[in-house]
Amino acid sequence: MSTTLAMALRVEGLDVRMAGQQILKKVSIEVPERGIVTVLGANGVGKTTLMRTISGIYQASAGSIIFVDEAITDLPSHRIVAKGLAQAPEGRQVFSNMSVRENLVLGGGTRAHKDLDRTLEEVLQRFPILRERLAQQAGSLSGGEQQMLCIGRALMSRPRLLLLDEPSLGLAPKIVKQIFGLIGSIRAAGTAILLVEQNVRAALKVADYGYVMEGGRIVLEGPATQLREDPRVRNAYLGGATH
Ligand SMILES: Nc1ncnc2c1ncn2[C@@H]1O[C@H](COP(=O)(O)OP(=O)(O)O)[C@@H](O)[C@H]1O
Ligand SMILES: [Mg+2]
Repeated sequence: MSTTLAMALRVEGLDVRMAGQQILKKVSIEVPERGIVTVLGANGVGKTTLMRTISGIYQASAGSIIFVDEAITDLPSHRIVAKGLAQAPEGRQVFSNMSVRENLVLGGGTRAHKDLDRTLEEVLQRFPILRERLAQQAGSLSGGEQQMLCIGRALMSRPRLLLLDEPSLGLAPKIVKQIFGLIGSIRAAGTAILLVEQNVRAALKVADYGYVMEGGRIVLEGPATQLREDPRVRNAYLGGATH
């Protein structure tokens, strides 16, 4: 990717080991400011491990993670979130026994009251369904609503970069369309997005640039329009379809 663009994220030569196994091998990716970059790959190749390592949940054994212009490689999660990098994790992971409002407020961290109210209002404008459900227990929401809550909670920290891990997984086509629409509008409002998806077709439609992972390595990368036409991507992830 061109180095003349201002980068929100630069991951360089990242190695991650888990339980004696090397899960990520020399992974390098970049996300420009206000860009959408997608990481594609089959189950178990290391996509979630990459997201968790960027978020500070897992430790890298080698390599570096630069957020804007600062190394965050060894920082704990809460400090990374405070710097403006938030994650909507795989499997949603909302707090089921807490209300929608409580989940959202938690995402705001230590934000001052006035600022918290303003941010909550912005998030509710983006997700009107959450306003209707504010007092409801998060566990009683539908899968699509829980995904919106999960993204909304991440947006409560006003991130400069949002990590989305499989946001469309298990959702009905109509809801998937809505989620991808939201991804586009979040970027339009100025937030860069790193997106991990199984829905390769939709991901390559919304993203500017993409990486393909196999066995813990990046094996292919390029502009999304180019990857959509690449025979390797078509055969492995798009069922060989021409469009
Ligand atoms: N906490 C962990 N401990 C041990 N192995 C793990 C851990 N997390 C992930 N792995 C292993 O790392 C590999 C990649 O997993 P993951 O990053 O979840 O892949 P993906 O998100 O691409 O499906 C898998 O083989 C998985 O079993
Ligand atoms: Mg995963």
